[in-house]
Amino acid sequence: MMRTRVICFLLLVYITKSFSLDMITPSQSMKDGDTLVSAGGTFELGFFSPGDSSGRYLGIWYKQSPSTLTWVANRNKRINSNSSVLEINNQGVLVLHNGSNNTFWSSKVSKAAENPVAQLLDSGNLVVRDRNGGKLENLLWQSFDYPCDTLLPGMKLGWNLETGLNRFLTCWKSTDDPDSGDYSFKIDLRGYPQAVQLKGDSIISRAGSWNGLSFTALPYHKQSPVFKSEFVLNEKEIFYEFQVLDNSTFFRYVMTSSGNRQLLHWTSETNVWETLITIPSARCDNYALCGENSVCNSVNTPDCACLEGFAPKVQREWDMSYWSNGCVRITPLSCSKDGFMKYTGIVLPDTSSSRYNKTIDLQECESLCLQNCSCTAYANLDKRDGGSGCLLWFGDLIDMRQSYEGGQDIYIRVPSSELEHNKKIYKKKLVGIITGSAVFMICLILGLAICLWKNKFEKPAGMSKVGFWKELLCRRVEEDSDIPTFDLSTIFYATNCFSSYNKFGAGGFGLVYKGVLADGTEIAVKRLSKNSEQGQQEFKTEVQLIAKLQHRNLVKLLGCCIKQKEKLLIYEFMPNRSLDHFIFDDGRRKLLDWTKRFQIISGIARGLLYLHHDSRLRIIHRDLKTSNILLDNDMNPKISDFGLARTFGGDQTEACTKRVMGTHGYISPEYPMHGSFSTKSDVFSFGVIMLEVVSGMKNKELSIPHQFVNLLGHAWELWTKERAMELVDKSLGDSVDEAQVLRCIHIGLLCVQERPENRPNMSSVIHMLNDDKPLARPKQPAFYPHQESNSSTKTSEMCSNNDISITLLEAR
Ligand SMILES: *[C@@H]1O[C@H](CO)[C@@H](O)[C@H](O)[C@H]1NC(C)=O
Ligand SMILES: *[C@@H]1O[C@H](CO)[C@@H](O)[C@H](O)[C@H]1NC(C)=O
Ligand SMILES: *[C@@H]1O[C@H](CO)[C@@H](O)[C@H](O)[C@H]1NC(C)=O
Ligand SMILES: *[C@@H]1O[C@H](CO)[C@@H](O)[C@H](O)[C@H]1NC(C)=O
Ligand SMILES: *[C@@H]1O[C@H](CO)[C@@H](O)[C@H](O)[C@H]1NC(C)=O
Ligand SMILES: *[C@@H]1O[C@H](CO)[C@@H](O)[C@H](O)[C@H]1NC(C)=O
Repeated sequence: MMRTRVICFLLLVYITKSFSLDMITPSQSMKDGDTLVSAGGTFELGFFSPGDSSGRYLGIWYKQSPSTLTWVANRNKRINSNSSVLEINNQGVLVLHNGSNNTFWSSKVSKAAENPVAQLLDSGNLVVRDRNGGKLENLLWQSFDYPCDTLLPGMKLGWNLETGLNRFLTCWKSTDDPDSGDYSFKIDLRGYPQAVQLKGDSIISRAGSWNGLSFTALPYHKQSPVFKSEFVLNEKEIFYEFQVLDNSTFFRYVMTSSGNRQLLHWTSETNVWETLITIPSARCDNYALCGENSVCNSVNTPDCACLEGFAPKVQREWDMSYWSNGCVRITPLSCSKDGFMKYTGIVLPDTSSSRYNKTIDLQECESLCLQNCSCTAYANLDKRDGGSGCLLWFGDLIDMRQSYEGGQDIYIRVPSSELEHNKKIYKKKLVGIITGSAVFMICLILGLAICLWKNKFEKPAGMSKVGFWKELLCRRVEEDSDIPTFDLSTIFYATNCFSSYNKFGAGGFGLVYKGVLADGTEIAVKRLSKNSEQGQQEFKTEVQLIAKLQHRNLVKLLGCCIKQKEKLLIYEFMPNRSLDHFIFDDGRRKLLDWTKRFQIISGIARGLLYLHHDSRLRIIHRDLKTSNILLDNDMNPKISDFGLARTFGGDQTEACTKRVMGTHGYISPEYPMHGSFSTKSDVFSFGVIMLEVVSGMKNKELSIPHQFVNLLGHAWELWTKERAMELVDKSLGDSVDEAQVLRCIHIGLLCVQERPENRPNMSSVIHMLNDDKPLARPKQPAFYPHQESNSSTKTSEMCSNNDISITLLEAR
């Protein structure tokens, strides 16, 4: 309480000292200490001193992140006084002076204004406009035309060919000095325009040419409903621009003083800038790493390989991984009798020596290339809709890369003798591959046999010969089952930047997003809440364990992505959402007849049995509920969120021991009361689910006017009065198999008994579901008054808000 007051007091002092304007006019100037605020309150213009510098600069920053400058006016001319003023004169020229009559910066205008006004737009653009008769129009000047190191949504990067204006990014010299540094990012107009990153005048990295969807070296930069990129190329303008259609997040490209081009992302949830892309990051991002006529491949060792028909110019250097001299042709071209060799998944080479034509197709492109003896390669200009347009290269091919996230086909000119030669080699290779794989299979089978034999008959002792083989082969096999890790940027673009449009649900542990990978695969991405204390390595180990659990009634984990603070789990996508989506919805519940519901119950039971008994690890789910049962295309149930309770350390040390995992309505009584949890607690939750599936009623929400009982109590009362059929969901109609339904209610009641030792285990449950032997008589179920959970709510909220199941979502 005390602390809050102090903060409020300080804030007041701060606010009274500075002055917020919403426009600058000839009669209203802006002094050091004042700010100009954008209409939506996103950006501010004012004076600042960067880092340790005492110099004063005029700049624009995010109101939520004042240390993030997006634009600086007098970047190369520091002001050494605290009395500077920004004025606008009657002609509409913005003038920055230091209090005495010394101008430090001014804007240029092409035409004079009558009634000028300067305003900061909510996009971060400082504009000067002419105000005629109350209307604002006639743009005279805008800061977006003079970028510093930052590209914001709606800003153009590139050329106005009519005026010759070239907008590009230049880094700050250092964090203390906004003056232009060495690195820049711009559109190069030579040949087919491409985006390049320069140090001084030399290219250090290429984003490459535009392929209709993205720059060729930035394939994850694809279109999405939220993040839209555009490249405009016509007689008047050539520029790149991106738009973000989600107000809740900010994006910016920045050229850093250390020479990296980064895409950063801010959400008010996290209040930190997260780096999504940094380039250069892979070795192949470095321009022309492999010299001429070669392909760079970050995955291979060595990174560089000559194109077919080429050999290293200086073999000795090449062997020492000194590649920059590149490769030369082995056989000279014969001009008219040449052919082309196709390469796929390629980041196209430097286009500065290329020519293009938007209207002709690939066939014409080939013949055009054949006609000119100095043409070395051709490709489609635009890769959308199967490809269109023609791009021709002349001379050496520079900076080609193998891409794993897109890329394009390119056809490279070779003498016809090379094509013949290659066919023969291909045949030889094929024979080689077949023999090779046969040998490999035999080795593998032998190895596996040794592994099995070793495991069965031998206790490990020292490193025998067999031990050595086991190490070698068994480890190999296990490593192969490692789950893939996804790139953060891949997931980012797959989910439209985690946009709210893609939000699919909120489970325990975090939000779930739907995503589509570049190859069209649909995925579900679980973005774990950031409060998880677990370290990255520990988390990864845990995820590897979860990934090994595979069963047709468990949701399949496809991979993970752990980067910076993000922990993402990537699952197969379940189009039909979860069970609660059906059985508790008046319309959709009719879609599940009794046969289907019984199949669902059996499926859940089999999945749970696998977790409890059949898998290598014994997994207690701890949060089994209808919203954790997902349904595939054929309405087969798949359990999700298993193994996560373990990851989130339900039973760790200190205060958080009492952290409650699980969801009100599904938790067994012994857990909140005594903190004990066993497979029988999952059996309890399973019993609740069974009764919910039969009745179509939610355990925690059931209210029957004259009785104060939950679904379990209600089911018990009906069952003891031999009126159990009244519990059954009316929308099931005639599809009901009475004996089977009654048996399910009976088994359900056995599962929800108060004492864990009375409940059956999952393998008995499955037997009971599948045969018709007489069942034991259940004892009265655990009644579970609603108020009980309040005390535990507090504990868990204090510890963490991962456990939103109880605390944040349901308790409202
Ligand atoms: C974005 O914010 C503005 C106000 O700042 C609001 O008018 C607009 O509707 C918002 N757009 C979306 C898509 O939320
Ligand atoms: C303004 O700048 C000029 C030139 O740099 C300097 O001579 C003058 O003292 C400065 N005025 C103030 C008030 O600092
Ligand atoms: C401007 O004011 C700040 C604090 O108010 C002070 O630290 C700084 O030295 C001043 N700079 C100049 C050049 O007077
Ligand atoms: C400021 O400079 C302008 C032109 O350089 C001059 O006309 C004006 O009189 C000067 N004002 C002062 C107060 O020195
Ligand atoms: C593109 O090719 C077409 C058909 O060959 C031709 O008519 C057109 O002039 C070419 N355009 C350019 C810009 O070369
Ligand atoms: C081949 O293309 C080059 C480069 O564009 C050009 O300079 C040359 O004139 C062309 N040669 C022929 C025969 O068209």
